[in-house]
Amino acid sequence: MKKLKYKRILLKLSGEAMMGEGGYGIDPSTVEYIAEEIKEAVSGGVEVAIVVGGGNIFRGVEASLKGMERASADYMGMLATVINGLALQNFLEQKGIPTRVQSAIEMKELAEPYIRRKAIRHLEKGRIVIFAAGTGNPYFTTDTAAALRAIEVGANAILKATKVNGIYSSDPEIDARAKKYDTIAYIDVLKKGLTVMDSTAVSLCMDNNLPIIVFNLRGKGNIKKIIEGKKVGTLVRGSNAARAKKKGH
Ligand code: GTP
Repeated sequence: MKKLKYKRILLKLSGEAMMGEGGYGIDPSTVEYIAEEIKEAVSGGVEVAIVVGGGNIFRGVEASLKGMERASADYMGMLATVINGLALQNFLEQKGIPTRVQSAIEMKELAEPYIRRKAIRHLEKGRIVIFAAGTGNPYFTTDTAAALRAIEVGANAILKATKVNGIYSSDPEIDARAKKYDTIAYIDVLKKGLTVMDSTAVSLCMDNNLPIIVFNLRGKGNIKKIIEGKKVGTLVRGSNAARAKKKGH
């Protein structure tokens, strides 16, 4: 078995990742693809927790901009993540991968409630734990839920799946001169206003020194490559100054 760079990771999937080319909902062949990518990655022995978004079904922020009260809209978005979590669980288990879904909003008939120590036990036993319903609070994104859960369960990194192969100086789909970063400091992501994750999520990672790897989910084998330490996407970490300071102490 290859030596792994990360022993335990948290994979952040957006809801949109599950809708494939369609504009809405869950595309079974896309979720199948994601499940296969995860299966390949776990074959190396890494422990995997997943936070899934809900934007393919309902976007709380958008609904609130159109006049809905933000808190109610956010709760609806959280319910959407539960739908996605159950779908992902189903596709993973069809491939023989044991999983547990834990929901931040209690709905015992569908999923376990979120219990940190139980989640860690599941991971130790080689089960994939899918965290649904975000943090359970409105005004927090599922990126923030990913950062929070990763820290809580002691993940070594967050793998943030996107449609592009890393972080760029501007949107590469619009700007041909956009430059890709191989590594970038948390503080620069915040200062430059790069919209890779919201600032709450990035700050939480920065304060807890949790690396984020932003990568393209459509690149076959990417999750496995990252776990094995290959250079894929963009690594977000502390600035050189911050890391030198840490080493000095
Ligand atoms: P171990 O105790 O480590 O063996 O974990 P386990 O998850 O196999 O044991 P447990 O008896 O807690 O759970 C057995 C099954 O019931 C698993 O599929 C759990 O996901 C599920 N389960 C446990 N608690 C709940 C719950 O509150 N709600 C729902 N819907 N399922 C639950």
